[in-house]
Amino acid sequence: MKAATSVFAGLGAYTPEKVLTNADFEKLLETSDTWIRERTGISERHIARRDETTAMMAAEASKAALKEAGFGPEDLDTIICATATPDRLLPSTACDLQALLGATNAKAFDIQAACSGWIYGLVMGDSLIQSGASERVLVLGAEKLTSIMDWTDRTTAVLFGDGAGAAVLTKSDGTRGIVSSYLKSDGTLAELLWRPAGGTVCPPNEQGQLEGRGYYIKMAGREVFKNAVRSMADAASKALDKAGITSEQVDLLVPHQANLRIIEATANHANIPMDRVYVNVDRYGNTSSASIPIALDEARRAGRLKPGMTVLLVTFGAGFTWGSMVVKW
Ligand code: ACO
Repeated sequence: MKAATSVFAGLGAYTPEKVLTNADFEKLLETSDTWIRERTGISERHIARRDETTAMMAAEASKAALKEAGFGPEDLDTIICATATPDRLLPSTACDLQALLGATNAKAFDIQAACSGWIYGLVMGDSLIQSGASERVLVLGAEKLTSIMDWTDRTTAVLFGDGAGAAVLTKSDGTRGIVSSYLKSDGTLAELLWRPAGGTVCPPNEQGQLEGRGYYIKMAGREVFKNAVRSMADAASKALDKAGITSEQVDLLVPHQANLRIIEATANHANIPMDRVYVNVDRYGNTSSASIPIALDEARRAGRLKPGMTVLLVTFGAGFTWGSMVVKW
């Protein structure tokens, strides 16, 4: 296996207290617990308070990651926040987070790669460390998806949840950390999963209102499903090849938690049995860019992720974007 470049000095996650079950959705929409569980594997999801922002959730995850790394906020030189649900369009959620943390010595910026955002952010952070531009990088995946969910659309509303995950990256001595990565996108398929309004194409009117329901997520579920499986399988093999290992050497696959059937199909294509796959989509739904760090943090607490293990991360999201990473934990 190749030498690692950046190491995870700390990891942290946060999910809001309030839980919405499938039974709760049965009261809101024409749906059923059975339908949701059979088609998605989701039983419940965490929902942010109305006054709880993406940056606030990111701050909670960041504090846990910083604590583990043994750093104070002022030790950070870079904050990268991956989010598809920024608290406002300008300035970035990363700058809000910087202010909340008091990370006075950092440069802070957002990246937008939808559900793939945290992996994109890790690759950016790793590259900054390798180039010498940064030494201590905080990488967030943070989402308040319930703020852009159409609560009247049963085809999307049941899928998502809120939360945040964070990692502190520092330079590795080569033995532990990021070994390889792969990123890809295809912008020609944007309309299969998007939020059409709110930007320059469909700005709000003078009263701040948008036309139609374009503010909300819209998705062609079946097309997304097929593309997700194909792209995640491709991404898995690319990162393994770059690391110089095979799927037999993977101790744990931690995929983006969108849908249990997508996870099972990806694992099957990658030739990794489900007992080496971490799944928590049943309890969190799809938290987009936050899903992998939340799952990694939970896998660690559950004793499923131990030092020395070889971990494969694989993701897919709107854009379309997809990617993967091999990490020596
Ligand atoms: N409850 C009950 N019935 C529903 C619901 C619901 N919540 N949602 C849809 N249906 C109905 C449909 O209206 C349709 O009814 P009809 O046959 O009378 O027209 C029927 O169920 C089948 O609908 P499909 O969309 O064909 O169902 P499918 O098996 O494709 O499952 C799903 C839908 C779960 C959305 C699936 O396509 C999927 O998981 N796609 C991937 C989407 C995803 O994970 N996106 C997240 C963002 S991208 C990412 O993170 C990877």
